[in-house]
Amino acid sequence: MEKSIPKRENWGSRIGFIMAAAGSAVGLGNIWRFPYLLGENGGAAFLLIYLVFVVFIGISIMIAEFAVGRNSGSAAVGAYKSKSGKWTFAGVIGVLSAFFIMGFYPVVGGWSLAYIAQTFTGLLSNPEAIGGTFGAFIGSTTAPLIWMIVFLALNVFIVARGIAGGIEKAGKILMPVLFGLLVLIAIRSLTLPGAAAGLSYMFKPDFSAVTGQTYLAALGQAFFSLSLGMGCMITYGSYLNKKEDLATNAVLVTGMDVGVALLAGLAMFPAIFALGMAPDAGPGLVFVVIPSVFAAMGGIGPILSVIFFVALTVAALTSSVSLMEVAVAYFIDEKGIERKKAVYSVASAMGVLSILSSLSLGSMSGVTLFGVGFFDFFDILTDKIFLSIGGLLLSVFVGWFLDKEMLRKELTNGGTVKFALFEAWHFLIKYVIPVAISIVAFYGIKSIEQ
Ligand code: PFF
Repeated sequence: MEKSIPKRENWGSRIGFIMAAAGSAVGLGNIWRFPYLLGENGGAAFLLIYLVFVVFIGISIMIAEFAVGRNSGSAAVGAYKSKSGKWTFAGVIGVLSAFFIMGFYPVVGGWSLAYIAQTFTGLLSNPEAIGGTFGAFIGSTTAPLIWMIVFLALNVFIVARGIAGGIEKAGKILMPVLFGLLVLIAIRSLTLPGAAAGLSYMFKPDFSAVTGQTYLAALGQAFFSLSLGMGCMITYGSYLNKKEDLATNAVLVTGMDVGVALLAGLAMFPAIFALGMAPDAGPGLVFVVIPSVFAAMGGIGPILSVIFFVALTVAALTSSVSLMEVAVAYFIDEKGIERKKAVYSVASAMGVLSILSSLSLGSMSGVTLFGVGFFDFFDILTDKIFLSIGGLLLSVFVGWFLDKEMLRKELTNGGTVKFALFEAWHFLIKYVIPVAISIVAFYGIKSIEQ
């Protein structure tokens, strides 16, 4: 009997795992970041490159992360270390990525929370002022900090209760709500007069504006959005039971993630064009466009706006808890620290970084690292550099240092489930992906310099 007692906490059910993993993947990356990157990088051409990366690199790396996590039964650092101490650094890079992403993610999560409240205090009553209000809000000192801390506190509450108790429950209830809401908003947006221009912007590629940076942005976004390249899916995979079909789970999670990003695009771009707004407005896009759309609707606008920002906050939360879990799992597994203590220490450190980020958009805008403020620095450092390096290291680790037959066993559950594309997957992981990431990173970084 003793054998059946899991040595780690386990996911309560399969649907619980998928919802939690999709909850990690679907977040600000899909709804805040994806639309503005699409807008800044010329629309459909970026979308196409992004989708190619997701299908050929993203899904393969997710399968690899699940396999490594479940096989080793440990979070990122432990999983690498269980093979050889020389690989510990690859896991540590992942933990660092979690800290740096959580150095700006809670700031944006806080904006979303603030917008729920501001809808009640007249955000939509003066549509012309919405852009200015957003700029003034994020540049101010106290209010964004308070909302960021509230957001971080919600994370602490969920993560402190442990995997099956907190994260899984939150994901199960809130993900379907989010999906339904986005469908509703997309329908409204698509039926506005002039919406067709937004559709052709999203789906008719113009390759003239594509540069090395477009490829790097698309690759970074693929990693960021799918929660890859920093051991998050290794950690989640380590809680997965031996009966689950890993490849199918990876395809399902990726499908949901891409689905939500496309839906967010469909909710925003038709409206952006219908209302004559600029698609390349940058990080403020969702916070300016969506309230403007709602303001233009009159009556039900404020209600939809509240629902939207609740959904955005929820999406952000189910992702940020997974980021926090990567760091917390490290301190529990590797340093033997008790969960609650680990959560409080990790959250405090993330809070300090987030304070710097938030202030860098206002009173500390003069303080720069490599020419950019803290917010942009943490963003660029993680998404364009750390996650790509993390993905590269993972594919080299899995392709060249793990036993192929062990991987085949892990991915077919000892021969009981089919994984027809195993050879193709292994070839991609071993040869194609490391080369592809290196080329994209090289040309991307080169074109940033120019
Ligand atoms: N995938 C999340 C999003 O799209 O918002 C962000 C994220 C979560 C990135 C977890 C990395 C990670 F490990």
